[in-house]
Amino acid sequence: SSALPDGYSIRPLQRGDFDAGFLDVLRVLTQVGDVSKEDFEKRWDEMKAGAGGYHVLVILDGEEKIVGTGALIVERKFIHHLGLVGHIEDIAVAKDQQGKKLGLRIIQALDYVAENTGCYKTILDCSEANEGFYVKCGFKRAGLEMAHYY
Ligand code: ACO
Repeated sequence: SSALPDGYSIRPLQRGDFDAGFLDVLRVLTQVGDVSKEDFEKRWDEMKAGAGGYHVLVILDGEEKIVGTGALIVERKFIHHLGLVGHIEDIAVAKDQQGKKLGLRIIQALDYVAENTGCYKTILDCSEANEGFYVKCGFKRAGLEMAHYY
């Protein structure tokens, strides 16, 4: 089945989601820092819910608390006949909500957006520890990540 648990829902991130616990879910993934509501709203305005190629989804539990999130960034290219490539980023499920297929549902939803936006592939970077999760989501190992930190 491809359903969420009873009472749960999935939708794009909204400008008012600061108070629904969005950043706390991301803290499961990595350091977020001290981001004010104003900072959050300014960044949201820059992303404008999909318009600039940013698609940030959230899963809410029955109490409208954000318990999972993930993003798809649609990159516009000149190669491959002006091709589009999807990049999956910042997948996180609250600690006490892991193992309920919420991560899988987020990836399926982002995959759906990528395919329907016209992306010819979607790629992501992950640790070895998460490889099995992405294999279960239908991804396979390809390439090698390199980074230059500033
Ligand atoms: N290794 C192997 N298999 C895994 C792993 C793992 N680390 N995590 C989940 N799985 C399996 C599950 O057992 C399940 O298998 P099943 O269908 O046989 O039962 C399947 O993958 C789907 O699992 P979900 O229940 O959907 O996973 P969950 O909701 O717990 O989310 C996630 C997985 C997002 C990795 C979560 O554990 C998490 O938030 N971790 C901390 C943050 C993180 O590492 N995020 C990913 C960073 S990479 C990126 O963002 C591109």
